[in-house]
Amino acid sequence: MSASINQSVSQVNLSGLSLVTPQKEVNHAQAMAGDSISSIAEQKIDKLPGSPAVINTTTSIIENAAIPLFDFEELQQAKGEQRKELIRQFGEGLRDVGFVAVRAESLIPLVEAANVEMEKYFSQSLEEKMKDWRQSHATGFSPQGRETAAGAKKADIKETFFIPPNYKEWPKGREEFQGVMGTYHKEFTKLAALFMGFLAEFLEEATEDITTSMQDAYNLIRLAHYPAPRPEDDPQAVWAGAHEDLNALTLLPSSKVPGLQLMTKEGEWKAVNIPQGYILVNTGEQVQHKTAGWIRATRHQVVNPGGVYARQRRFASIFFASWSASFSLMPFESCIAKATAGMAADEKEKYMKGFPDITVEQNLNSRLIEMRTIPNPPEEMVRELREKGLIRKPPEELKSLYPHLFADE
Ligand SMILES: [Fe+2]
Repeated sequence: MSASINQSVSQVNLSGLSLVTPQKEVNHAQAMAGDSISSIAEQKIDKLPGSPAVINTTTSIIENAAIPLFDFEELQQAKGEQRKELIRQFGEGLRDVGFVAVRAESLIPLVEAANVEMEKYFSQSLEEKMKDWRQSHATGFSPQGRETAAGAKKADIKETFFIPPNYKEWPKGREEFQGVMGTYHKEFTKLAALFMGFLAEFLEEATEDITTSMQDAYNLIRLAHYPAPRPEDDPQAVWAGAHEDLNALTLLPSSKVPGLQLMTKEGEWKAVNIPQGYILVNTGEQVQHKTAGWIRATRHQVVNPGGVYARQRRFASIFFASWSASFSLMPFESCIAKATAGMAADEKEKYMKGFPDITVEQNLNSRLIEMRTIPNPPEEMVRELREKGLIRKPPEELKSLYPHLFADE
Protein backbone atom coordinates (compact mmCIF):
# COMPACT_ATOMS: atom_id res chain seq x y z
CA MET A 1 0.00 0.00 0.00
CA SER A 2 1.15 3.53 -0.53
CA ALA A 3 0.77 6.26 2.03
CA SER A 4 1.47 9.95 2.22
CA ILE A 5 2.61 12.50 4.72
CA ASN A 6 1.41 16.00 5.20
CA GLN A 7 2.87 18.46 7.67
CA SER A 8 3.89 22.09 7.72
CA VAL A 9 7.32 23.58 8.12
CA SER A 10 8.56 27.12 8.35
CA GLN A 11 10.16 28.44 5.22
CA VAL A 12 12.26 31.39 4.17
CA ASN A 13 11.30 33.80 1.45
CA LEU A 14 11.04 32.03 -1.90
CA SER A 15 10.44 34.94 -4.21
CA GLY A 16 12.44 35.81 -7.28
CA LEU A 17 13.56 32.37 -8.41
CA SER A 18 13.39 30.76 -11.80
CA LEU A 19 15.11 28.41 -14.23
CA VAL A 20 18.75 27.53 -13.81
CA THR A 21 21.08 29.29 -16.17
CA PRO A 22 24.46 28.08 -16.65
CA GLN A 23 27.15 28.58 -19.09
CA LYS A 24 30.58 27.83 -20.38
CA GLU A 25 32.71 24.82 -20.89
CA VAL A 26 30.78 21.81 -19.96
CA ASN A 27 30.21 18.40 -21.37
CA HIS A 28 27.02 16.40 -21.14
CA ALA A 29 27.48 15.68 -17.54
CA GLN A 30 26.24 19.00 -16.24
CA ALA A 31 23.28 18.84 -18.48
CA MET A 32 22.27 15.46 -17.27
CA ALA A 33 22.44 16.87 -13.84
CA GLY A 34 19.78 19.34 -14.77
CA ASP A 35 22.00 22.00 -13.43
CA SER A 36 24.84 23.73 -15.11
CA ILE A 37 27.90 25.74 -14.63
CA SER A 38 28.70 29.41 -14.80
CA SER A 39 31.96 31.07 -13.97
CA ILE A 40 34.06 29.74 -11.20
CA ALA A 41 34.24 32.00 -8.23
CA GLU A 42 36.83 31.17 -5.67
CA GLN A 43 34.98 31.27 -2.40
CA LYS A 44 35.76 30.03 1.01
CA ILE A 45 33.54 27.17 2.02
CA ASP A 46 32.19 27.94 5.44
CA LYS A 47 32.25 26.05 8.64
CA LEU A 48 29.25 26.05 10.92
CA PRO A 49 29.00 29.66 12.08
CA GLY A 50 29.68 30.44 15.69
CA SER A 51 27.10 33.19 15.92
CA PRO A 52 23.43 33.10 15.05
CA ALA A 53 22.98 33.14 11.29
CA VAL A 54 20.65 35.69 9.78
CA ILE A 55 19.51 34.06 6.59
CA ASN A 56 16.37 35.86 5.66
CA THR A 57 13.94 37.74 7.76
CA THR A 58 10.95 37.04 5.53
CA THR A 59 9.53 33.83 6.86
CA SER A 60 6.41 32.14 5.63
CA ILE A 61 4.84 28.75 6.15
CA ILE A 62 4.53 26.28 3.31
CA GLU A 63 2.79 22.95 3.38
CA ASN A 64 4.35 19.58 2.74
CA ALA A 65 3.53 17.97 -0.58
CA ALA A 66 1.65 14.68 -0.19
CA ILE A 67 4.33 12.36 -1.55
CA PRO A 68 3.11 8.80 -2.22
CA LEU A 69 5.27 6.27 -0.32
CA PHE A 70 6.05 2.75 -1.56
CA ASP A 71 8.00 -0.30 -0.49
CA PHE A 72 10.38 -1.57 -3.17
CA GLU A 73 9.99 -5.28 -2.35
CA GLU A 74 6.23 -4.94 -2.42
CA LEU A 75 6.32 -3.11 -5.74
CA GLN A 76 8.51 -5.80 -7.25
CA GLN A 77 6.69 -8.81 -5.88
CA ALA A 78 3.06 -7.72 -6.12
CA LYS A 79 0.93 -9.73 -8.51
CA GLY A 80 -2.39 -9.36 -10.26
CA GLU A 81 -4.76 -6.66 -9.08
CA GLN A 82 -2.47 -5.56 -6.24
CA ARG A 83 0.39 -4.94 -8.68
CA LYS A 84 -1.89 -3.07 -11.04
CA GLU A 85 -3.02 -0.83 -8.21
CA LEU A 86 0.52 -0.12 -6.94
CA ILE A 87 1.79 0.63 -10.43
CA ARG A 88 -1.15 2.97 -10.97
CA GLN A 89 -0.34 4.83 -7.75
CA PHE A 90 3.38 4.99 -8.66
CA GLY A 91 2.68 6.41 -12.14
CA GLU A 92 -0.04 8.79 -10.99
CA GLY A 93 2.25 10.01 -8.21
CA LEU A 94 4.90 10.97 -10.77
CA ARG A 95 2.29 12.48 -13.06
CA ASP A 96 0.20 14.38 -10.51
CA VAL A 97 2.54 15.15 -7.60
CA GLY A 98 5.86 15.04 -9.47
CA PHE A 99 7.69 13.03 -6.80
CA VAL A 100 7.15 9.59 -5.25
CA ALA A 101 9.31 7.91 -2.58
CA VAL A 102 10.32 4.26 -2.32
CA ARG A 103 11.78 2.44 0.67
CA ALA A 104 14.46 0.01 -0.53
CA GLU A 105 15.50 -1.80 2.64
CA SER A 106 18.51 -3.51 1.08
CA LEU A 107 20.05 -0.19 0.01
CA ILE A 108 19.81 1.58 3.38
CA PRO A 109 23.34 0.56 4.54
CA LEU A 110 24.80 1.74 1.21
CA VAL A 111 23.02 5.09 1.45
CA GLU A 112 24.26 5.53 5.02
CA ALA A 113 27.82 4.68 3.96
CA ALA A 114 27.53 7.22 1.13
CA ASN A 115 26.39 9.86 3.64
CA VAL A 116 29.41 9.18 5.84
CA GLU A 117 31.85 9.36 2.92
CA MET A 118 30.19 12.45 1.47
CA GLU A 119 30.36 14.31 4.78
CA LYS A 120 34.01 13.33 5.27
CA TYR A 121 34.84 14.46 1.73
CA PHE A 122 33.19 17.86 1.92
CA SER A 123 34.61 18.51 5.41
CA GLN A 124 38.09 18.80 3.89
CA SER A 125 39.61 22.23 3.23
CA LEU A 126 38.67 23.97 0.00
CA GLU A 127 42.31 23.74 -1.04
CA GLU A 128 42.22 19.96 -0.70
CA LYS A 129 38.93 19.63 -2.60
CA MET A 130 40.17 21.88 -5.42
CA LYS A 131 42.69 19.15 -6.24
CA ASP A 132 39.66 17.24 -7.60
CA TRP A 133 38.44 20.13 -9.74
CA ARG A 134 38.57 19.59 -13.53
CA GLN A 135 38.11 22.68 -15.68
CA SER A 136 36.96 21.06 -18.88
CA HIS A 137 34.96 18.15 -17.57
CA ALA A 138 31.87 17.97 -15.43
CA THR A 139 33.50 15.43 -13.22
CA GLY A 140 34.88 15.70 -9.74
CA PHE A 141 34.60 18.70 -7.46
CA SER A 142 32.75 21.94 -8.26
CA PRO A 143 33.25 24.82 -5.79
CA GLN A 144 30.53 27.14 -4.60
CA GLY A 145 29.68 29.87 -7.08
CA ARG A 146 29.62 27.74 -10.23
CA GLU A 147 25.85 27.79 -10.72
CA THR A 148 23.34 30.61 -10.75
CA ALA A 149 19.58 30.43 -11.19
CA ALA A 150 18.13 32.73 -13.85
CA GLY A 151 16.29 35.53 -12.14
CA ALA A 152 18.37 35.03 -9.02
CA LYS A 153 21.13 37.55 -8.51
CA LYS A 154 23.38 35.23 -6.59
CA ALA A 155 24.94 31.84 -7.28
CA ASP A 156 23.61 28.74 -5.54
CA ILE A 157 25.07 28.16 -2.08
CA LYS A 158 26.41 24.68 -2.77
CA GLU A 159 29.47 22.69 -3.72
CA THR A 160 29.24 19.38 -5.52
CA PHE A 161 31.11 16.32 -6.74
CA PHE A 162 30.15 14.61 -10.02
CA ILE A 163 30.74 10.89 -10.55
CA PRO A 164 30.09 9.64 -14.11
CA PRO A 165 30.02 5.94 -15.11
CA ASN A 166 33.37 4.12 -14.89
CA TYR A 167 34.96 7.09 -13.16
CA LYS A 168 38.75 6.98 -12.99
CA GLU A 169 39.82 10.24 -11.33
CA TRP A 170 38.93 9.45 -7.74
CA PRO A 171 40.23 11.67 -4.92
CA LYS A 172 43.66 10.47 -3.85
CA GLY A 173 43.88 8.41 -0.68
CA ARG A 174 40.13 7.99 -0.31
CA GLU A 175 39.69 4.30 -1.05
CA GLU A 176 36.51 4.02 1.02
CA PHE A 177 34.92 6.95 -0.81
CA GLN A 178 35.80 5.29 -4.11
CA GLY A 179 34.51 1.87 -3.05
CA VAL A 180 31.21 3.18 -1.69
CA MET A 181 30.51 5.55 -4.58
CA GLY A 182 31.44 2.95 -7.20
CA THR A 183 28.90 0.55 -5.66
CA TYR A 184 26.36 3.37 -5.30
CA HIS A 185 26.63 4.12 -9.02
CA LYS A 186 26.05 0.49 -9.99
CA GLU A 187 23.19 -0.13 -7.55
CA PHE A 188 21.37 3.10 -8.36
CA THR A 189 21.68 2.43 -12.08
CA LYS A 190 19.91 -0.91 -11.54
CA LEU A 191 17.31 0.69 -9.27
CA ALA A 192 16.60 3.52 -11.73
CA ALA A 193 16.08 1.01 -14.55
CA LEU A 194 13.59 -0.89 -12.38
CA PHE A 195 11.73 2.33 -11.55
CA MET A 196 11.65 3.13 -15.25
CA GLY A 197 10.16 -0.32 -15.79
CA PHE A 198 7.37 0.53 -13.31
CA LEU A 199 6.72 3.77 -15.18
CA ALA A 200 6.62 1.92 -18.54
CA GLU A 201 4.14 -0.52 -17.05
CA PHE A 202 1.98 2.39 -15.93
CA LEU A 203 2.15 3.82 -19.46
CA GLU A 204 1.34 0.35 -20.87
CA GLU A 205 4.43 0.52 -23.07
CA ALA A 206 7.04 -2.20 -23.60
CA THR A 207 9.60 -1.97 -20.83
CA GLU A 208 12.64 -3.54 -22.49
CA ASP A 209 14.08 -0.67 -24.54
CA ILE A 210 13.60 2.04 -22.01
CA THR A 211 15.11 0.08 -19.18
CA THR A 212 18.11 -1.35 -21.05
CA SER A 213 18.85 2.07 -22.55
CA MET A 214 19.08 3.44 -19.04
CA GLN A 215 21.56 0.78 -17.96
CA ASP A 216 24.01 1.91 -20.67
CA ALA A 217 23.44 5.65 -20.36
CA TYR A 218 25.59 8.46 -19.02
CA ASN A 219 24.14 8.25 -15.52
CA LEU A 220 25.62 10.49 -12.88
CA ILE A 221 25.97 10.71 -9.15
CA ARG A 222 26.07 14.28 -7.97
CA LEU A 223 27.06 14.65 -4.33
CA ALA A 224 25.94 18.02 -2.99
CA HIS A 225 26.94 19.95 0.12
CA TYR A 226 24.75 22.94 0.95
CA PRO A 227 26.76 24.88 3.58
CA ALA A 228 25.04 26.41 6.58
CA PRO A 229 23.85 29.93 5.76
CA ARG A 230 26.08 32.75 7.02
CA PRO A 231 25.07 36.24 8.03
CA GLU A 232 27.14 37.64 5.15
CA ASP A 233 25.30 35.56 2.52
CA ASP A 234 23.08 37.47 0.16
CA PRO A 235 19.46 37.01 1.30
CA GLN A 236 18.50 36.21 -2.29
CA ALA A 237 20.96 33.33 -2.55
CA VAL A 238 19.53 29.85 -1.98
CA TRP A 239 20.97 26.34 -1.82
CA ALA A 240 19.73 25.53 -5.34
CA GLY A 241 17.59 27.81 -7.51
CA ALA A 242 14.41 26.55 -9.14
CA HIS A 243 14.89 24.29 -12.17
CA GLU A 244 13.78 21.13 -13.93
CA ASP A 245 16.17 18.20 -14.36
CA LEU A 246 17.27 17.44 -17.92
CA ASN A 247 17.63 13.69 -17.43
CA ALA A 248 14.88 11.02 -17.31
CA LEU A 249 14.52 10.05 -13.63
CA THR A 250 16.27 11.50 -10.58
CA LEU A 251 16.74 9.39 -7.44
CA LEU A 252 17.50 11.06 -4.12
CA PRO A 253 17.71 9.39 -0.69
CA SER A 254 16.05 11.30 2.17
CA SER A 255 18.16 13.97 3.83
CA LYS A 256 18.39 14.69 7.57
CA VAL A 257 17.89 18.40 6.91
CA PRO A 258 14.81 19.51 4.94
CA GLY A 259 14.89 22.15 2.22
CA LEU A 260 13.77 20.48 -1.01
CA GLN A 261 10.58 21.91 -2.50
CA LEU A 262 8.52 21.09 -5.57
CA MET A 263 6.20 23.27 -7.60
CA THR A 264 2.69 21.89 -7.94
CA LYS A 265 0.74 21.95 -11.20
CA GLU A 266 -1.06 24.97 -9.74
CA GLY A 267 2.26 26.81 -9.39
CA GLU A 268 2.51 26.57 -5.61
CA TRP A 269 5.73 25.67 -3.76
CA LYS A 270 5.41 22.72 -1.39
CA ALA A 271 8.02 21.11 0.86
CA VAL A 272 9.26 17.64 -0.06
CA ASN A 273 9.83 15.79 3.20
CA ILE A 274 9.81 12.02 3.49
CA PRO A 275 10.68 9.57 6.29
CA GLN A 276 14.28 8.41 6.69
CA GLY A 277 15.18 5.35 4.61
CA TYR A 278 13.14 6.36 1.57
CA ILE A 279 14.45 7.32 -1.87
CA LEU A 280 12.71 10.10 -3.76
CA VAL A 281 12.03 9.69 -7.47
CA ASN A 282 11.17 12.60 -9.77
CA THR A 283 10.81 13.02 -13.51
CA GLY A 284 13.05 15.08 -15.82
CA GLU A 285 12.79 16.53 -19.32
CA GLN A 286 13.49 13.25 -21.11
CA VAL A 287 10.37 11.68 -19.60
CA GLN A 288 8.41 14.85 -20.31
CA HIS A 289 9.37 14.66 -23.99
CA LYS A 290 8.80 10.89 -24.33
CA THR A 291 5.31 11.27 -22.86
CA ALA A 292 4.44 14.37 -24.94
CA GLY A 293 4.13 16.37 -21.74
CA TRP A 294 1.58 13.98 -20.21
CA ILE A 295 4.11 13.54 -17.39
CA ARG A 296 5.98 16.77 -16.77
CA ALA A 297 9.52 17.44 -15.61
CA THR A 298 9.00 18.49 -12.01
CA ARG A 299 10.21 21.97 -11.10
CA HIS A 300 12.04 22.05 -7.77
CA GLN A 301 14.46 24.04 -5.63
CA VAL A 302 16.43 23.68 -2.40
CA VAL A 303 16.12 26.39 0.24
CA ASN A 304 17.27 26.44 3.87
CA PRO A 305 14.02 26.15 5.85
CA GLY A 306 15.14 28.53 8.61
CA GLY A 307 13.99 28.06 12.21
CA VAL A 308 15.90 25.24 13.90
CA TYR A 309 17.64 24.52 10.59
CA ALA A 310 18.92 28.05 10.07
CA ARG A 311 22.46 27.12 11.12
CA GLN A 312 22.59 23.64 9.62
CA ARG A 313 24.24 22.39 6.49
CA ARG A 314 22.68 19.79 4.21
CA PHE A 315 24.00 16.90 2.15
CA ALA A 316 22.47 15.07 -0.82
CA SER A 317 23.63 12.13 -2.95
CA ILE A 318 21.62 12.73 -6.12
CA PHE A 319 21.47 10.13 -8.90
CA PHE A 320 20.60 11.36 -12.39
CA ALA A 321 19.41 8.50 -14.60
CA SER A 322 19.15 9.09 -18.35
CA TRP A 323 18.47 7.24 -21.53
CA SER A 324 21.45 6.68 -23.83
CA ALA A 325 22.52 9.39 -26.29
CA SER A 326 20.99 7.73 -29.38
CA PHE A 327 17.65 6.93 -27.69
CA SER A 328 14.68 8.39 -29.57
CA LEU A 329 12.52 10.82 -27.62
CA MET A 330 9.72 10.47 -30.18
CA PRO A 331 6.71 10.49 -27.85
CA PHE A 332 4.71 7.32 -27.27
CA GLU A 333 1.53 7.33 -29.38
CA SER A 334 -0.51 6.43 -26.33
CA CYS A 335 0.85 9.47 -24.48
CA ILE A 336 0.21 11.78 -27.44
CA ALA A 337 -3.41 10.61 -27.43
CA LYS A 338 -3.75 11.31 -23.71
CA ALA A 339 -1.87 14.62 -23.76
CA THR A 340 -3.86 16.00 -26.69
CA ALA A 341 -7.29 14.56 -25.88
CA GLY A 342 -9.98 17.13 -26.61
CA MET A 343 -7.69 19.38 -28.70
CA ALA A 344 -8.79 20.59 -32.13
CA ALA A 345 -6.56 19.43 -35.03
CA ASP A 346 -4.73 22.76 -35.40
CA GLU A 347 -4.26 23.02 -31.65
CA LYS A 348 -2.84 19.51 -31.52
CA GLU A 349 -0.46 20.24 -34.39
CA LYS A 350 0.83 23.34 -32.62
CA TYR A 351 1.17 21.48 -29.31
CA MET A 352 3.12 18.60 -30.89
CA LYS A 353 5.66 21.02 -32.38
CA GLY A 354 7.00 21.12 -28.83
CA PHE A 355 7.83 17.39 -29.02
CA PRO A 356 9.75 16.73 -32.25
CA ASP A 357 11.29 13.36 -33.17
CA ILE A 358 14.76 13.80 -31.69
CA THR A 359 17.35 11.82 -29.80
CA VAL A 360 18.46 12.34 -26.22
CA GLU A 361 21.70 13.85 -27.51
CA GLN A 362 19.95 16.34 -29.80
CA ASN A 363 17.66 17.43 -27.00
CA LEU A 364 20.59 17.83 -24.66
CA ASN A 365 22.68 19.83 -27.13
CA SER A 366 19.77 22.15 -27.81
CA ARG A 367 19.25 22.78 -24.10
CA LEU A 368 22.98 23.32 -23.54
CA ILE A 369 23.02 25.88 -26.35
CA GLU A 370 19.95 27.65 -24.93
CA MET A 371 21.65 27.76 -21.55
CA ARG A 372 24.93 29.03 -23.07
CA THR A 373 26.68 25.95 -21.76
CA ILE A 374 27.93 25.38 -25.30
CA PRO A 375 28.87 29.02 -25.99
CA ASN A 376 29.94 28.81 -29.66
CA PRO A 377 28.28 25.78 -31.22
CA PRO A 378 29.24 24.82 -34.80
CA GLU A 379 26.87 26.12 -37.50
CA GLU A 380 26.00 22.60 -38.69
CA MET A 381 24.90 21.60 -35.23
CA VAL A 382 22.72 24.70 -34.88
CA ARG A 383 21.21 24.22 -38.36
CA GLU A 384 20.34 20.59 -37.71
CA LEU A 385 18.76 21.36 -34.35
CA ARG A 386 16.79 24.30 -35.78
CA GLU A 387 15.45 22.04 -38.54
CA LYS A 388 14.19 19.74 -35.83
CA GLY A 389 12.36 22.66 -34.22
CA LEU A 390 14.83 22.90 -31.36
CA ILE A 391 16.70 25.86 -29.80
CA ARG A 392 13.40 27.57 -29.13
CA LYS A 393 14.98 30.13 -26.80
CA PRO A 394 18.21 31.10 -28.59
CA PRO A 395 20.63 33.34 -26.69
CA GLU A 396 21.07 36.77 -28.31
CA GLU A 397 24.75 36.12 -29.07
CA LEU A 398 23.84 32.95 -30.96
CA LYS A 399 21.34 34.88 -33.09
CA SER A 400 24.06 37.43 -33.86
CA LEU A 401 26.50 34.65 -34.74
CA TYR A 402 24.14 32.91 -37.20
CA PRO A 403 21.47 35.51 -38.12
CA HIS A 404 20.41 33.56 -41.25
CA LEU A 405 19.42 30.57 -39.08
CA PHE A 406 17.17 32.73 -36.92
CA ALA A 407 15.65 34.93 -39.63
CA ASP A 408 12.14 33.74 -38.72
CA GLU A 409 12.46 34.73 -35.07
FE1 LIG B 1 17.43 19.09 -9.71
